[in-house]
Amino acid sequence: MQPILGELNHVAIAVPDLEAAARRYRDIFGARVSAPLPLPEHGVTTVFVALPNTKIELLHPLGEKSPVASFLARNPAGGIHHLCYEVADLGAARDRLVQEGARVLGDGEPRIGAHGKPVLFLHPKDFDGTLIELEQR
Ligand code: CO
Repeated sequence: MQPILGELNHVAIAVPDLEAAARRYRDIFGARVSAPLPLPEHGVTTVFVALPNTKIELLHPLGEKSPVASFLARNPAGGIHHLCYEVADLGAARDRLVQEGARVLGDGEPRIGAHGKPVLFLHPKDFDGTLIELEQR
């Protein structure tokens, strides 16, 4: 059986104050931190922290019906929001996961994510309480 999961693309952390979080990563950790990137279709503003082997995605709600707003309401101090794995073939990965009984969020069709590549999200209840993002490699 071919493995579906490739590299860990990023770990996403929901943060109550995006500027403060970005500043901490830059000034305390000395990390390379991107400018804030608003993604209205995902209801978030993101800042990416580049690490040698992966990235950290700092997430802050954007707009009325942001999925991150409800997360922050439950976790006011912030917290790990999702993991993103790269996959070689997003459509094939989706079909196999659905066949195995995993639930894909939304209408099941990939959307364009923070890196301009198609992404899908899998229901956290199907993966030990972890929201999983799959990104086309
Ligand atoms: Co992400």
